[in-house]
Amino acid sequence: MPYIIEPMDYDDIDAVAGIERQCFSLPWPTSAYRRELRTPNTNRYVVARWVDDPIKAKLAQANGSKSLRQSERSWLTRLLPFLASDKPGAGAANPYPIVGYAGLWLMVDEAHVTTIAVMPSHQGQSVGELLFLSMIDQALEMKAIWLTLEVRVSNTVAQALYRKYGLKEAGRRRRYYSDNGEDAFIMWSEPLQSDEFQRRLTRLRAELEQRMAAKAQQKGAPARAANPAPSQLAEEH
Ligand SMILES: CC(C)(COP(=O)(O)OP(=O)(O)OC[C@H]1O[C@@H](n2cnc3c(N)ncnc32)[C@H](O)[C@@H]1OP(=O)(O)O)[C@@H](O)C(=O)NCCC(=O)NCCS
Repeated sequence: MPYIIEPMDYDDIDAVAGIERQCFSLPWPTSAYRRELRTPNTNRYVVARWVDDPIKAKLAQANGSKSLRQSERSWLTRLLPFLASDKPGAGAANPYPIVGYAGLWLMVDEAHVTTIAVMPSHQGQSVGELLFLSMIDQALEMKAIWLTLEVRVSNTVAQALYRKYGLKEAGRRRRYYSDNGEDAFIMWSEPLQSDEFQRRLTRLRAELEQRMAAKAQQKGAPARAANPAPSQLAEEH
């Protein structure tokens, strides 16, 4: 059950909004995604798709059209070459369902991860990590020096993912979330080009590639249970 990563497209927004409603108590309106996609120089959004058959996954990579712009192709193929697919031909519906998405904004030399979510039935399958790694790669591609984000103080699952990549709490925004007045931790990476960050990235990327290659040999729906109920993890972003 391999997963592939693609740039988010306008056609993807309805599916993204569906996952958003399952994962967040304060979902963005679809207009916000349309606005984000208008400025790809500073805003990068990706989707993760589930390809339920390894043979189809290979075909998805081999048969893609040339519809992606060269710049999009280059940042995707740098990411995880064996997972980055091309889009199907113009006008063709993409047959592989979207199971997660993530995005960031570049502000001067800081890459701000604005959102990341995985459909509950696909959580715990390394899709969130794959998406987060893609955000790091976008940040590197855009020559950002640091990666930063806000996360609910109660969202220990997401915090564990960010800590795995070396992000640390560097502050707290009081009552940041308007639904329940919860605080946000502000987390920051090490400088992305630092030896420490790069060593960790190389190790984690290799481990993730191994896990994903093993998944690509399997067929069928994910077997592992989802993370805690999305309502417990609800997040403004
Ligand atoms: C946070 C989220 C994106 C993680 O995605 P995921 O696909 O479930 O996570 P992965 O399977 O890729 O796991 C990656 C890491 O996350 C952490 N993690 C995942 N599930 C966890 C759990 N149940 N408990 C603790 N840590 C967990 C671990 O550090 C894990 O690394 P490991 O496998 O080496 O232990 C996902 O849970 C989600 O969509 N949550 C709802 C939306 C949300 O809270 N977004 C974050 C906003 S800041």
